[in-house]
Formats: sequence, C-alpha cells, structure tokens
Amino acid sequence: MNTIRLNTDYLKQFVSPTELGSIRNEVLQAKKTLLSGSGRGNDFLGWLDLPKDLSPEIVNNIKADVQRISPRASLFVVIGIGGSYLGARAVIEALQSEFASMQSDGSHPYIIYAGHTLSEDYYCQLLKLLDNHDYAVAVISKSGTTTEPAVAFRIIKSHLEKKYGKTDAAGRIIAITDAHRGALHDIAQQEGYRTYVIPDNVGGRFSVLTPVGLLPIAMAGYNIDQLLQGACDMRRLCTESDDLDENPALLYAALRNILYRKGYKVEILENFIPQLKYISEWWKQLYGESEGKEGKGILPHSLSFTTDLHSMGQYVQEGERLMFETVLSLEKPQGKVEIPADEKNLDGINYLLGKSLTEINLNAEIGTILAHNDGGVPVLRILLPTVDEYTLGQLIYFFEFACGVSGYTLGVNPFDQPGVEAYKKNMFRLLGKPGYGSN
Ligand code: PA5
Repeated sequence: MNTIRLNTDYLKQFVSPTELGSIRNEVLQAKKTLLSGSGRGNDFLGWLDLPKDLSPEIVNNIKADVQRISPRASLFVVIGIGGSYLGARAVIEALQSEFASMQSDGSHPYIIYAGHTLSEDYYCQLLKLLDNHDYAVAVISKSGTTTEPAVAFRIIKSHLEKKYGKTDAAGRIIAITDAHRGALHDIAQQEGYRTYVIPDNVGGRFSVLTPVGLLPIAMAGYNIDQLLQGACDMRRLCTESDDLDENPALLYAALRNILYRKGYKVEILENFIPQLKYISEWWKQLYGESEGKEGKGILPHSLSFTTDLHSMGQYVQEGERLMFETVLSLEKPQGKVEIPADEKNLDGINYLLGKSLTEINLNAEIGTILAHNDGGVPVLRILLPTVDEYTLGQLIYFFEFACGVSGYTLGVNPFDQPGVEAYKKNMFRLLGKPGYGSN
C-alpha cells in the first residue's frame, strides 16, 4: 500500500528517544480509551468505523444523485459551515485544477459554497451568478438550526423556486441532516426533498466520510470509493498497531503532546503546493475545536509556502519561539513543466536548467526546514506519495484518529465544542431572537 508516512529527521534535536519512550504508555492508553469507547465524548465515536461500515446503498444513492443532477446543473451550491462544509471543500480543492472554474468540461457541476458567511456582498454576487447558470443545491446541517446555512438556504431556495418553479426546484435540492430532528429535517420532510442522514454518533468535524463530504466530492467528479478505501486502509493501521514506528497517528499524537509540554504551543500546518490550503482549514477546525478547551490546547495555524515565506517566514524564523511546524510534503506531482533554456540568462536562473519544478520546490522545502531548525523551530514532515483520492482518504483518517488520541492524551474531551455557543447567544440577543433577552 502506498502509505503516507511521518518523517522525524528534523525533530531529532528537539525530541529525545527518552521523551518519546516516556509518553508512549500515555498515548497507548489514550488509544485504548478511544477504541473501547470508555472516554469522554464516547457517544460521538461513529467516525471510527465509517470507512468500513458505511452502507454501499448510501454510496450508490450518492452516485445516482450525481448522474441525475450532473446533466441539469453546471453549478452545485454546497450550503454549510464548519464541519458541514470544510471536509468537502478540502478534498475538492486538493483534487481539482487551480483554474477549474474556467475549465469545466461540463461532465460534472462546478462546486461553489454558501452558508459559511453572512456577507451581504457575497450573496449579492452569488445570486447574480446563479441568475445565469443552471444549478442544484445541497444544504447540509447536522443540527438543522445553524443560522448561517439557514439564512443562505432561505435566500437560495427562494431564488431557485423563482427560477425553476416549486416542483423542479424541489428536485434540485438535497438536504443532509439529522434523521429525526431540526428545522432542516422538518423543511425537507414537508417539501419532499431528497435527503441523507448524518449519523447521531458522528460530530460535524468528523463527518467528511459521511454524505456530508461524500456527496459534494462525488458531485465534483471524484472517486469516493478510492477515498473510502484510503481511509479504510489507514483505519486498519491506526487501530491495529501499537508500534509508534509503524502507526503514524500514534507517533503524531505523541510528538505534538511532547512538544506542547515543552512550551511549543502553536502548530503550523504547512504545504508547498497551494491546492492543500483547504486541507489546512479543515485540519484547523478538527484540532482547534477538539483540543482548544479547559484553558488548554495547541493553537493550530497554517501557512502556504513558498508564498508565505515572503510574509510570515520572518516571524517563523526570528519571532517569539512558540511554534513547531508540520509540513505536508508531496513526493510525486501529477503534472510536468520544463524551465525553458535562455542563452542570455539575464534573469540568472540558467543554473536551474534540467531540474524539475518539483526538485526546486523540494529544495525550497528542505532549505526552509533547515533554516527554521536553526531558528529553534521543530519540524515534522508528513510525506504524501501523491495527491489523489486514495491518499486523501488516508490523510483524513490519519488526522482524525491522531486527533482523538492526542485529545485524550492532553486530557480533554476531543468530541465536544461547548465554546462555539458563546458568540451565538450574543448574536441572537443583539438581533432580538425570541428567548435570548433584550439588548
Ligand atoms: O464541528 C462542529 O460540530 C461544528 O463546526 C459544526 O460542524 C458547525 O457548527 C455546523 O453545524 P451544523 O452542521 O449543525 O450546521
């Protein structure tokens, strides 16, 4: 199996074998707690077995919906926020061309997003776009009551019904929500929408391998069987092996907890290929919501290199020493571009002739890591054989499993998010929502 691997060569001066040996039992205990379901938040562990237990009927229904919708829609609007949006976007943006919006071959709709913002200008621009394209919609909310997607759905549903009439519009809407509760569940029932269920025991940020992520990813034209296979193979490795040299999730959980205890309170997830930017956004939610509580937790941050070497690179090199870096390192690109020869060499880059851009980028990566090591920054690398559905499936499961183990090692409940309610209460009071007091 072509597996993602951890490389710890650039951590050696920061984490000793003795430190790793000392935390080993804690991490193994955390893994046991996770797999036995005996820890806090144990009613949200459905994601652990999703890649192997997801019913083939769900996958087939998703494929049938893709067949049904694709000929009728050049755009597919995914309405959702947080865990109901970031996983799909992370996978789709990792796999699609940077210029996909200008290059569609028409076989699948182009995915656009809503419900992740309350910006009036965003919806104004979106509605103008939708005026001129055929489209369909997935509205995704586990609770079915989140304000941002509810507002977006009301606006887009009204536009869709005006454009196509109520009956055709209903056939263009797919609702993904709770099996029994919530406003979205009730609307979907009343309007007769096609629906998928988000299982009760899968929290939002762990839901990418349910229809929440799978439907938009398949709609964009990507292979969800391969995504699930990658996750399934990584699941086997993560759940079966207690060997830190073999099980990358245990090693990652161990190393980040060692570093945290030594005062490295910020983890920067970095990539050297821009299409992984949304993997970082998804990862930030996963780790930020899972670990940032009870006054504890590594602060997840992200940078895209070499772009950000020309901005935040200065801080990482010489600013306050609080961070360690985790680099997503690509071993094999999909494309090839030659640097053309130029006799005059006025730009002075002829020394690069004969080298691939990947080789140049890799040297930028290693050069950066060495410099940051010299500046006192520990660096961990996650080696990705390539960026395809199978590898992304592995990466998703690896990060999820490591997150559960890491959160229990840290001593928090990795599966709740009590803090996200605070802003909502204030917003509801300020907006005069009944039951939230007056301002
Ligand atoms: O991880 C989480 O639980 C949250 O980020 C949710 O995914 C987010 O708030 C959206 O919630 P819902 O799917 O209920 O609309």
